[in-house]
Amino acid sequence: QTGQLLSGRRVLVTAGPTFEPIDPVRFIGNRSSGKMGIAIADALARKGAAVELVLGPTSLKPNAGQVRLTKVQTAREMYHAATALFPNMDAAILAAAVADYRPAEAAQQKIKKKGDSMALDLVKNPDIAQALGQMKKSGQVIIGFALETERALEHGAGKLKAKNMDLIVVNSLADEGAGFNHDTNKVTFLGAGNKPREFELKSKAAVAEDIVAALAELLPQRR
Ligand code: PMT
Repeated sequence: QTGQLLSGRRVLVTAGPTFEPIDPVRFIGNRSSGKMGIAIADALARKGAAVELVLGPTSLKPNAGQVRLTKVQTAREMYHAATALFPNMDAAILAAAVADYRPAEAAQQKIKKKGDSMALDLVKNPDIAQALGQMKKSGQVIIGFALETERALEHGAGKLKAKNMDLIVVNSLADEGAGFNHDTNKVTFLGAGNKPREFELKSKAAVAEDIVAALAELLPQRR
């Protein structure tokens, strides 16, 4: 069937924040709403792709009925879900804001208030993008994100290379209307060897369409 740019393609999307438990009541998290990644999952489904969305804690959901949803809480849960799915995928788009560190141990009971200060011991979480970059087989495509607050293009280029991505979508909290929770985003695409492609501020739905179009160009052509 023509007209469905991505029909028969399988795409993994990660979205949302991760919550890293401190005790049964508290967690370390971040301000991601999941909007950007959910918009990507919906845009992919509209183009006929089979979408696996691994979504961190948020109340938002994809609209497209055919998106398969795996809900997770922590970075480690997201890592296990994403690395299990990736071998059967044509591509992965990694929009999640994953906590780089988690409390070394989550207390079984609510931590009681005592003393004027307390310290939390943190340990490193797995890097999902890096793991998928190492697993990547010829023909598979990885598109990542970089969320920056300064020197966005420089940091984005570093992540593109270090994580073996094919394209990185750079967004900066220094830009009005960009990043967490807004319904809009302002992004620059960086790919190996190409000059950066800067877009104006637009809805996350429109940004998602631009990303899907870029993915279609990166996927090896079928005959
Ligand atoms: O969810 P919204 O409110 O709509 O906000 C959207 C967004 C700002 C979260 C999104 O546009 C975005 O930028 N997502 C990436 C956020 C991020 O954590 O970026 P980073 O520069 O720290 O990570 C670089 C890349 O590695 C990302 O693709 C990230 O998903 C991935 N990563 C990072 C750490 C880790 N442990 N595992 C990962 O897979």
